[in-house]
Amino acid sequence: MTAGMTHDMKPVLVFDSGIGGLTVLREARVLMPERGFIYVADDAGFPYGDWEEQPLKERILDLFENLLKTYDPEAVIVACNTAFTLAGSDLRAAFPDRRFIGTVPAIKPAAERTRSGLVSVLATPGTVKRAYTRDLIQSFAGQCHVRLVGSQNLARLAEAYIRGEGADDAEILAEIAPCFVDRDGRRTDIVVLACTHYPFLANVFRRLAPWPVDWLDPAEAIARQARRLVPLTEGAEHPEAFDFAVFTSGNPDFSTRRLMQGFGLRMA
Ligand code: DGL
Repeated sequence: MTAGMTHDMKPVLVFDSGIGGLTVLREARVLMPERGFIYVADDAGFPYGDWEEQPLKERILDLFENLLKTYDPEAVIVACNTAFTLAGSDLRAAFPDRRFIGTVPAIKPAAERTRSGLVSVLATPGTVKRAYTRDLIQSFAGQCHVRLVGSQNLARLAEAYIRGEGADDAEILAEIAPCFVDRDGRRTDIVVLACTHYPFLANVFRRLAPWPVDWLDPAEAIARQARRLVPLTEGAEHPEAFDFAVFTSGNPDFSTRRLMQGFGLRMA
């Protein structure tokens, strides 16, 4: 394989409302080292968790109309539960010749693994409200007690934390405390991280948790699915210094730019 052919390989686009999708990007890079990546953060719309469904759906479809035209990616990883549970099927219907890899709450694996039968799903208020999420519970977790915990502030707190602005333990504990259920001698043993921002706080969650639980992060499973859909080209190599980030505000702050640099992403 010549360098020229390698450079012709289309990139993979990873999308999120903010910087949470980086938790998926880092896994995707491990499994797809030969691909160039474009990271798109709709920071002008962040946080998605509070949006009404119809306007958010329209916003996401409009954005993708442009993104697909501009970057013509090989595949798109929608690394955002709030976006994909709302607009995943509309995206696939609107752009049928494109490959979308979605992110949905990992309710099925949680239901398969729990021993106590008590599972919590920690997500944005948007994801908690979705019919998609209710359907997942009905289809795959009928035998479990699933508690849905919609967090108003965690995505924002995760952004601040990963930018190096610190995190207030009491504030974070207040957000995760409802995940812990103790009933009839049984306790929650799995908390599904159903927002891609939350794995950045996993160590803080572990430290503050009233008892140890499995914090289920679906990033690796999403990356594996992406790898299945984007076959490896023999001998292909990552195009040098290709990867870059796009922020819809056009104006991310200094600490966000520094974070992107840390992830090896140029600012577009
Ligand atoms: N990272 C997004 C998710 O996975 C949501 C964050 C937000 O915009 O509220 O749901």
